[in-house]
Amino acid sequence: MSKSLAVINCSQLVTLGGPARPRVGGELRELGIVSSGALFVRGTRIERVGSRKEIEALIDDECEVVDAGGRIVLPGFVDAHAHPVFAGTRADEFEERAGGATYQEIAARGGGIKSTVRATREASVEDLVIAGKRYADWFLRGGTTTVEAKSGYGLTLDDELKILRAIRQLDQDLPLRYVPTFLGAHDIPAEYRERRDEYVALVIDEMLPQVMNEELAEYCDVFCEGKVFSVDESREILSAARKLGLGLRIHADQLSLSGGAKLAGELRATTADHLEHTDTEGIAALKSGGVQPVLLPGSVYALGSQGYPAAREMINAGLAIVLATDFNPGSSPTPSMLAVLSLAATQMKMTPAESISAATINAAYSLGRGAKLGSLENNKSADFVIHDCDDYRELSYFFGVEHAWQVFVGGQRAFSRS
Ligand code: NIG
Ligand code: FE
Repeated sequence: MSKSLAVINCSQLVTLGGPARPRVGGELRELGIVSSGALFVRGTRIERVGSRKEIEALIDDECEVVDAGGRIVLPGFVDAHAHPVFAGTRADEFEERAGGATYQEIAARGGGIKSTVRATREASVEDLVIAGKRYADWFLRGGTTTVEAKSGYGLTLDDELKILRAIRQLDQDLPLRYVPTFLGAHDIPAEYRERRDEYVALVIDEMLPQVMNEELAEYCDVFCEGKVFSVDESREILSAARKLGLGLRIHADQLSLSGGAKLAGELRATTADHLEHTDTEGIAALKSGGVQPVLLPGSVYALGSQGYPAAREMINAGLAIVLATDFNPGSSPTPSMLAVLSLAATQMKMTPAESISAATINAAYSLGRGAKLGSLENNKSADFVIHDCDDYRELSYFFGVEHAWQVFVGGQRAFSRS
Protein backbone atom coordinates (compact mmCIF):
# COMPACT_ATOMS: atom_id res chain seq x y z
CA MET A 1 0.00 0.00 0.00
CA SER A 2 1.49 3.36 -0.89
CA LYS A 3 1.91 6.15 1.61
CA SER A 4 -1.17 8.07 2.72
CA LEU A 5 -1.71 11.64 3.78
CA ALA A 6 -4.73 13.35 5.32
CA VAL A 7 -5.29 17.10 5.32
CA ILE A 8 -7.70 18.10 8.06
CA ASN A 9 -8.94 21.28 9.72
CA CYS A 10 -9.46 23.36 6.55
CA SER A 11 -11.81 26.32 6.90
CA GLN A 12 -12.70 25.95 3.21
CA LEU A 13 -11.74 23.09 0.95
CA VAL A 14 -12.11 24.75 -2.43
CA THR A 15 -12.45 21.68 -4.67
CA LEU A 16 -13.47 23.10 -8.06
CA GLY A 17 -15.37 19.84 -8.38
CA GLY A 18 -17.95 19.90 -11.17
CA PRO A 19 -18.55 18.76 -14.73
CA ALA A 20 -15.60 17.11 -16.51
CA ARG A 21 -15.09 20.02 -18.91
CA PRO A 22 -14.00 23.66 -18.76
CA ARG A 23 -16.37 26.00 -16.90
CA VAL A 24 -18.34 28.75 -18.61
CA GLY A 25 -20.79 31.52 -17.67
CA GLY A 26 -22.24 31.16 -14.18
CA GLU A 27 -20.31 27.92 -13.61
CA LEU A 28 -17.17 29.99 -13.19
CA ARG A 29 -18.53 31.17 -9.84
CA GLU A 30 -19.17 27.65 -8.53
CA LEU A 31 -16.10 26.52 -6.65
CA GLY A 32 -17.42 23.36 -5.01
CA ILE A 33 -16.45 24.56 -1.54
CA VAL A 34 -16.65 22.05 1.32
CA SER A 35 -16.71 24.02 4.60
CA SER A 36 -14.58 22.36 7.24
CA GLY A 37 -13.64 19.82 4.57
CA ALA A 38 -10.74 17.41 4.50
CA LEU A 39 -8.72 15.47 1.96
CA PHE A 40 -7.27 11.94 1.89
CA VAL A 41 -4.36 11.23 -0.44
CA ARG A 42 -2.90 7.83 -1.29
CA GLY A 43 0.43 7.89 -3.11
CA THR A 44 0.23 10.60 -5.75
CA ARG A 45 -3.56 10.78 -6.00
CA ILE A 46 -6.58 12.08 -4.15
CA GLU A 47 -8.53 9.13 -2.79
CA ARG A 48 -11.30 10.96 -1.01
CA VAL A 49 -12.68 14.46 -0.48
CA GLY A 50 -15.14 14.86 2.36
CA SER A 51 -15.99 16.18 5.79
CA ARG A 52 -13.39 16.12 8.53
CA LYS A 53 -15.25 13.27 10.20
CA GLU A 54 -15.28 11.12 7.06
CA ILE A 55 -11.58 11.63 6.42
CA GLU A 56 -10.55 11.12 10.04
CA ALA A 57 -12.18 7.68 9.91
CA LEU A 58 -9.63 6.70 7.22
CA ILE A 59 -6.55 7.70 9.22
CA ASP A 60 -4.36 4.84 10.49
CA ASP A 61 -0.91 4.74 12.13
CA GLU A 62 0.92 4.96 8.80
CA CYS A 63 -0.93 8.04 7.62
CA GLU A 64 0.74 11.46 7.73
CA VAL A 65 -1.72 14.02 9.07
CA VAL A 66 -1.40 17.63 7.95
CA ASP A 67 -3.32 20.04 10.15
CA ALA A 68 -4.24 23.03 7.97
CA GLY A 69 -4.91 25.07 11.12
CA GLY A 70 -8.19 26.52 9.84
CA ARG A 71 -6.63 27.73 6.57
CA ILE A 72 -8.03 27.32 3.06
CA VAL A 73 -7.01 24.58 0.62
CA LEU A 74 -7.15 24.91 -3.15
CA PRO A 75 -5.85 23.03 -6.17
CA GLY A 76 -2.41 24.26 -7.22
CA PHE A 77 -2.57 27.05 -9.78
CA VAL A 78 -2.06 25.97 -13.38
CA ASP A 79 -0.22 28.74 -15.21
CA ALA A 80 -1.12 28.12 -18.84
CA HIS A 81 1.08 30.76 -20.49
CA ALA A 82 4.69 31.40 -19.50
CA HIS A 83 8.16 31.88 -20.94
CA PRO A 84 10.14 30.61 -17.91
CA VAL A 85 13.43 29.58 -19.59
CA PHE A 86 15.72 32.39 -20.75
CA ALA A 87 19.10 33.88 -19.95
CA GLY A 88 19.75 37.28 -18.41
CA THR A 89 17.16 39.84 -17.44
CA ARG A 90 15.94 43.08 -19.02
CA ALA A 91 16.11 45.25 -15.92
CA ASP A 92 17.92 47.86 -18.07
CA GLU A 93 15.00 48.11 -20.51
CA PHE A 94 12.58 48.20 -17.60
CA GLU A 95 14.41 51.27 -16.33
CA GLU A 96 14.21 52.86 -19.79
CA ARG A 97 10.50 52.20 -19.94
CA ALA A 98 10.12 53.80 -16.54
CA GLY A 99 11.76 56.83 -18.17
CA GLY A 100 9.16 56.90 -20.95
CA ALA A 101 10.45 54.59 -23.72
CA THR A 102 7.85 52.15 -25.02
CA TYR A 103 8.12 48.37 -25.42
CA GLN A 104 7.67 48.75 -29.19
CA GLU A 105 10.37 51.46 -29.47
CA ILE A 106 12.82 49.28 -27.60
CA ALA A 107 11.94 46.29 -29.81
CA ALA A 108 12.33 48.40 -32.99
CA ARG A 109 15.94 49.24 -32.12
CA GLY A 110 16.87 45.59 -31.61
CA GLY A 111 16.07 45.32 -27.90
CA GLY A 112 13.10 43.48 -26.40
CA ILE A 113 12.79 39.83 -27.38
CA LYS A 114 16.00 40.18 -29.46
CA SER A 115 18.03 41.14 -26.34
CA THR A 116 16.94 37.97 -24.59
CA VAL A 117 17.62 35.95 -27.75
CA ARG A 118 21.23 37.21 -27.79
CA ALA A 119 21.73 36.25 -24.14
CA THR A 120 19.99 32.89 -24.50
CA ARG A 121 22.05 31.90 -27.55
CA GLU A 122 25.19 32.43 -25.44
CA ALA A 123 23.90 30.18 -22.63
CA SER A 124 24.34 26.40 -22.28
CA VAL A 125 21.53 24.01 -21.35
CA GLU A 126 23.04 23.89 -17.86
CA ASP A 127 22.99 27.70 -17.58
CA LEU A 128 19.32 27.71 -18.60
CA VAL A 129 18.47 24.98 -16.10
CA ILE A 130 20.16 26.94 -13.30
CA ALA A 131 18.25 30.12 -14.21
CA GLY A 132 15.04 28.11 -14.66
CA LYS A 133 15.36 26.61 -11.17
CA ARG A 134 15.38 30.05 -9.62
CA TYR A 135 12.09 30.86 -11.35
CA ALA A 136 10.62 27.42 -10.60
CA ASP A 137 11.12 28.14 -6.94
CA TRP A 138 9.14 31.38 -7.33
CA PHE A 139 6.28 29.56 -9.08
CA LEU A 140 6.06 26.90 -6.38
CA ARG A 141 6.18 29.29 -3.46
CA GLY A 142 3.41 31.28 -5.18
CA GLY A 143 1.15 28.22 -5.19
CA THR A 144 1.63 27.25 -8.84
CA THR A 145 2.12 23.52 -9.39
CA THR A 146 1.95 23.33 -13.21
CA VAL A 147 3.40 25.77 -15.69
CA GLU A 148 3.26 25.90 -19.46
CA ALA A 149 6.75 26.64 -20.79
CA LYS A 150 7.44 28.16 -24.19
CA SER A 151 10.70 28.18 -26.10
CA GLY A 152 11.18 31.21 -28.36
CA TYR A 153 14.39 32.89 -27.20
CA GLY A 154 16.67 30.78 -29.41
CA LEU A 155 15.33 31.24 -32.95
CA THR A 156 17.87 28.83 -34.46
CA LEU A 157 17.30 25.08 -34.66
CA ASP A 158 19.94 24.32 -32.05
CA ASP A 159 18.99 27.10 -29.68
CA GLU A 160 15.28 26.28 -29.77
CA LEU A 161 16.08 22.61 -29.06
CA LYS A 162 18.39 23.71 -26.26
CA ILE A 163 15.58 25.61 -24.52
CA LEU A 164 13.14 22.72 -24.92
CA ARG A 165 15.74 20.30 -23.53
CA ALA A 166 16.23 22.61 -20.55
CA ILE A 167 12.45 22.57 -20.00
CA ARG A 168 12.49 18.77 -20.09
CA GLN A 169 15.37 18.72 -17.60
CA LEU A 170 13.53 21.07 -15.23
CA ASP A 171 10.42 18.91 -15.43
CA GLN A 172 12.46 15.83 -14.53
CA ASP A 173 14.45 17.46 -11.74
CA LEU A 174 11.75 19.47 -9.96
CA PRO A 175 8.33 18.90 -8.43
CA LEU A 176 6.88 21.71 -10.60
CA ARG A 177 5.13 20.23 -13.65
CA TYR A 178 6.05 21.71 -17.04
CA VAL A 179 3.98 21.52 -20.24
CA PRO A 180 6.30 22.36 -23.16
CA THR A 181 5.34 24.58 -26.10
CA PHE A 182 7.47 25.25 -29.19
CA LEU A 183 7.52 28.98 -29.99
CA GLY A 184 10.16 29.14 -32.73
CA ALA A 185 7.93 31.80 -34.31
CA HIS A 186 8.35 34.26 -31.44
CA ASP A 187 10.21 36.81 -33.55
CA ILE A 188 11.99 37.12 -36.89
CA PRO A 189 15.67 36.89 -35.90
CA ALA A 190 17.82 39.85 -36.94
CA GLU A 191 19.79 37.79 -39.49
CA TYR A 192 16.54 36.94 -41.36
CA ARG A 193 15.10 40.45 -41.43
CA GLU A 194 15.39 40.75 -45.21
CA ARG A 195 14.35 37.14 -45.92
CA ARG A 196 11.53 36.34 -43.57
CA ASP A 197 10.16 33.62 -45.89
CA GLU A 198 13.31 31.67 -45.25
CA TYR A 199 12.80 31.90 -41.51
CA VAL A 200 9.21 30.67 -41.80
CA ALA A 201 10.53 27.78 -43.93
CA LEU A 202 13.20 27.01 -41.32
CA VAL A 203 10.55 26.81 -38.59
CA ILE A 204 8.34 24.53 -40.69
CA ASP A 205 10.89 22.33 -42.46
CA GLU A 206 13.61 21.96 -39.87
CA MET A 207 12.57 23.03 -36.40
CA LEU A 208 9.10 21.46 -36.18
CA PRO A 209 10.15 17.99 -37.43
CA GLN A 210 13.13 17.88 -35.05
CA VAL A 211 11.01 19.03 -32.11
CA MET A 212 8.63 16.18 -32.92
CA ASN A 213 11.45 13.64 -33.37
CA GLU A 214 12.66 14.32 -29.88
CA GLU A 215 9.11 14.69 -28.50
CA LEU A 216 10.08 18.02 -26.99
CA ALA A 217 6.73 19.84 -27.20
CA GLU A 218 2.99 19.28 -26.93
CA TYR A 219 1.90 22.62 -28.38
CA CYS A 220 3.05 25.09 -31.02
CA ASP A 221 2.59 28.84 -30.54
CA VAL A 222 3.15 31.83 -32.88
CA PHE A 223 3.43 35.55 -32.08
CA CYS A 224 0.84 36.80 -34.59
CA GLU A 225 1.26 40.59 -34.74
CA GLY A 226 1.66 43.29 -37.42
CA LYS A 227 5.42 43.67 -37.10
CA VAL A 228 6.12 40.04 -36.21
CA PHE A 229 4.30 37.12 -37.94
CA SER A 230 1.41 38.00 -40.26
CA VAL A 231 -1.87 36.13 -40.18
CA ASP A 232 -0.83 34.21 -43.33
CA GLU A 233 2.56 33.26 -41.93
CA SER A 234 0.97 32.25 -38.62
CA ARG A 235 -1.59 30.11 -40.43
CA GLU A 236 1.15 28.38 -42.41
CA ILE A 237 3.23 27.57 -39.34
CA LEU A 238 0.31 26.46 -37.19
CA SER A 239 -1.17 24.30 -39.95
CA ALA A 240 2.18 22.53 -40.34
CA ALA A 241 2.37 22.02 -36.57
CA ARG A 242 -1.11 20.55 -36.49
CA LYS A 243 -0.22 18.06 -39.25
CA LEU A 244 2.60 16.82 -37.03
CA GLY A 245 0.22 16.35 -34.11
CA LEU A 246 0.86 19.44 -31.98
CA GLY A 247 -1.89 21.40 -30.24
CA LEU A 248 -2.16 25.08 -31.19
CA ARG A 249 -1.83 28.26 -29.11
CA ILE A 250 -1.53 31.81 -30.50
CA HIS A 251 -0.26 35.14 -29.18
CA ALA A 252 -3.18 37.08 -30.63
CA ASP A 253 -4.15 40.77 -30.82
CA GLN A 254 -1.71 41.75 -28.07
CA LEU A 255 -0.37 45.07 -29.37
CA SER A 256 -2.93 45.69 -32.13
CA LEU A 257 -6.04 44.13 -33.66
CA SER A 258 -4.06 41.99 -36.07
CA GLY A 259 -6.53 39.19 -36.70
CA GLY A 260 -5.02 36.61 -34.34
CA ALA A 261 -8.29 35.79 -32.59
CA LYS A 262 -10.04 35.27 -35.90
CA LEU A 263 -7.26 32.99 -37.05
CA ALA A 264 -7.47 31.03 -33.80
CA GLY A 265 -11.21 30.55 -34.41
CA GLU A 266 -10.65 29.51 -38.02
CA LEU A 267 -8.01 26.94 -37.00
CA ARG A 268 -9.95 25.79 -33.95
CA ALA A 269 -6.82 26.36 -31.88
CA THR A 270 -6.79 25.20 -28.28
CA THR A 271 -6.13 28.72 -27.00
CA ALA A 272 -5.80 32.33 -28.14
CA ASP A 273 -3.70 34.31 -25.70
CA HIS A 274 -3.49 38.02 -24.75
CA LEU A 275 -6.48 39.40 -26.76
CA GLU A 276 -6.04 42.95 -25.45
CA HIS A 277 -7.30 44.38 -28.78
CA THR A 278 -9.78 41.67 -29.75
CA ASP A 279 -13.16 43.03 -30.86
CA THR A 280 -16.65 41.54 -30.77
CA GLU A 281 -16.08 39.76 -34.09
CA GLY A 282 -12.92 38.18 -32.73
CA ILE A 283 -14.78 37.02 -29.62
CA ALA A 284 -17.45 35.44 -31.82
CA ALA A 285 -14.72 33.66 -33.80
CA LEU A 286 -13.28 32.22 -30.57
CA LYS A 287 -16.71 31.00 -29.59
CA SER A 288 -17.44 29.34 -32.91
CA GLY A 289 -14.01 27.70 -32.98
CA GLY A 290 -14.24 26.38 -29.40
CA VAL A 291 -11.08 28.31 -28.47
CA GLN A 292 -10.19 29.08 -24.83
CA PRO A 293 -9.06 32.69 -24.26
CA VAL A 294 -5.96 32.99 -22.06
CA LEU A 295 -5.85 36.46 -20.49
CA LEU A 296 -2.57 37.90 -19.22
CA PRO A 297 -3.25 41.05 -17.21
CA GLY A 298 0.27 40.98 -15.72
CA SER A 299 1.69 41.96 -19.11
CA VAL A 300 -0.78 44.84 -19.53
CA TYR A 301 0.14 46.08 -16.07
CA ALA A 302 3.89 45.71 -16.51
CA LEU A 303 3.82 47.49 -19.88
CA GLY A 304 2.05 50.36 -18.15
CA SER A 305 -0.89 50.08 -20.53
CA GLN A 306 -4.56 50.61 -19.69
CA GLY A 307 -5.86 48.24 -22.36
CA TYR A 308 -6.98 45.16 -20.47
CA PRO A 309 -8.82 42.47 -22.45
CA ALA A 310 -12.61 42.38 -22.44
CA ALA A 311 -12.97 39.58 -19.89
CA ARG A 312 -16.63 40.24 -19.08
CA GLU A 313 -17.64 40.25 -22.73
CA MET A 314 -15.81 36.95 -23.18
CA ILE A 315 -17.51 35.40 -20.15
CA ASN A 316 -20.88 36.64 -21.39
CA ALA A 317 -20.14 35.07 -24.78
CA GLY A 318 -19.78 31.70 -23.04
CA LEU A 319 -16.00 31.35 -23.42
CA ALA A 320 -14.04 29.09 -21.05
CA ILE A 321 -11.72 31.82 -19.91
CA VAL A 322 -8.21 31.15 -18.51
CA LEU A 323 -5.88 33.46 -16.54
CA ALA A 324 -2.09 33.13 -16.67
CA THR A 325 1.04 35.13 -15.81
CA ASP A 326 2.86 35.32 -19.17
CA PHE A 327 6.02 35.23 -17.01
CA ASN A 328 8.86 36.51 -19.22
CA PRO A 329 11.79 38.94 -18.91
CA GLY A 330 10.15 41.72 -20.95
CA SER A 331 6.43 42.33 -20.89
CA SER A 332 5.52 40.41 -17.74
CA PRO A 333 8.24 39.77 -15.20
CA THR A 334 6.00 38.11 -12.62
CA PRO A 335 5.47 34.43 -11.82
CA SER A 336 2.67 35.32 -9.39
CA MET A 337 -0.80 33.93 -10.06
CA LEU A 338 -1.94 35.86 -6.97
CA ALA A 339 -0.90 39.12 -8.66
CA VAL A 340 -2.91 38.01 -11.68
CA LEU A 341 -5.98 37.30 -9.53
CA SER A 342 -5.73 40.77 -8.03
CA LEU A 343 -5.47 42.42 -11.46
CA ALA A 344 -8.34 40.32 -12.78
CA ALA A 345 -10.56 41.66 -10.01
CA THR A 346 -9.53 45.31 -10.07
CA GLN A 347 -8.88 45.81 -13.79
CA MET A 348 -11.12 43.27 -15.52
CA LYS A 349 -13.94 43.06 -12.98
CA MET A 350 -13.78 39.31 -12.61
CA THR A 351 -14.99 38.04 -9.26
CA PRO A 352 -12.51 36.13 -7.08
CA ALA A 353 -14.43 32.91 -7.80
CA GLU A 354 -14.35 33.43 -11.58
CA SER A 355 -10.62 34.11 -11.42
CA ILE A 356 -9.93 30.97 -9.40
CA SER A 357 -11.82 28.81 -11.90
CA ALA A 358 -9.86 30.46 -14.72
CA ALA A 359 -6.55 29.85 -12.92
CA THR A 360 -7.12 26.19 -12.05
CA ILE A 361 -9.66 23.92 -13.75
CA ASN A 362 -10.02 25.91 -16.99
CA ALA A 363 -6.28 26.33 -17.25
CA ALA A 364 -5.80 22.58 -16.78
CA TYR A 365 -8.22 21.85 -19.62
CA SER A 366 -6.42 24.34 -21.85
CA LEU A 367 -3.26 22.26 -21.41
CA GLY A 368 -4.94 18.91 -22.03
CA ARG A 369 -4.66 18.07 -18.33
CA GLY A 370 -8.30 18.53 -17.25
CA ALA A 371 -8.77 14.88 -16.32
CA LYS A 372 -5.76 14.90 -14.02
CA LEU A 373 -5.22 18.44 -12.70
CA GLY A 374 -7.05 21.63 -11.77
CA SER A 375 -9.51 20.38 -9.14
CA LEU A 376 -9.55 18.37 -5.93
CA GLU A 377 -11.62 15.35 -6.90
CA ASN A 378 -11.28 11.62 -6.38
CA ASN A 379 -8.50 10.08 -8.43
CA LYS A 380 -6.96 13.36 -9.55
CA SER A 381 -3.33 14.21 -8.82
CA ALA A 382 -2.81 15.45 -5.29
CA ASP A 383 -1.58 18.91 -6.36
CA PHE A 384 -2.92 21.24 -3.68
CA VAL A 385 -1.98 24.34 -1.74
CA ILE A 386 -2.76 25.39 1.81
CA HIS A 387 -3.03 29.18 1.73
CA ASP A 388 -2.77 31.21 4.91
CA CYS A 389 -6.27 32.74 4.58
CA ASP A 390 -9.67 32.11 6.16
CA ASP A 391 -11.71 32.72 3.03
CA TYR A 392 -10.80 32.18 -0.66
CA ARG A 393 -11.68 35.79 -1.54
CA GLU A 394 -8.70 36.97 0.50
CA LEU A 395 -6.42 35.52 -2.19
CA SER A 396 -7.20 38.36 -4.57
CA TYR A 397 -8.17 40.92 -1.93
CA PHE A 398 -4.96 41.09 0.16
CA PHE A 399 -2.58 41.78 -2.71
CA GLY A 400 1.20 41.71 -2.67
CA VAL A 401 1.17 38.97 -0.04
CA GLU A 402 2.54 35.45 -0.65
CA HIS A 403 -0.36 33.48 0.80
CA ALA A 404 0.85 29.94 0.03
CA TRP A 405 1.77 28.16 3.28
CA GLN A 406 2.32 24.60 2.10
CA VAL A 407 2.40 23.34 -1.47
CA PHE A 408 2.01 19.68 -2.49
CA VAL A 409 2.58 18.18 -5.93
CA GLY A 410 1.57 14.58 -6.50
CA GLY A 411 1.14 14.10 -2.76
CA GLN A 412 4.69 15.32 -2.00
CA ARG A 413 5.45 18.51 -0.11
CA ALA A 414 7.13 20.86 -2.61
CA PHE A 415 7.22 24.05 -0.51
CA SER A 416 6.63 24.82 3.12
CA ARG A 417 6.68 28.15 4.94
CA SER A 418 7.30 27.21 8.50
O1 NIG B 1 3.75 37.26 -24.35
N1 NIG B 1 4.30 38.82 -27.10
C1 NIG B 1 5.28 38.16 -27.21
N2 NIG B 1 5.92 37.51 -26.25
C2 NIG B 1 5.93 37.86 -24.88
C3 NIG B 1 6.92 38.91 -24.57
C4 NIG B 1 8.26 38.35 -24.59
C5 NIG B 1 9.32 39.31 -24.20
O2 NIG B 1 9.15 40.54 -24.16
O3 NIG B 1 10.43 38.79 -23.97
C6 NIG B 1 4.54 38.18 -24.37
O4 NIG B 1 4.23 39.30 -23.95
FE1 FE C 1 3.62 35.35 -23.99
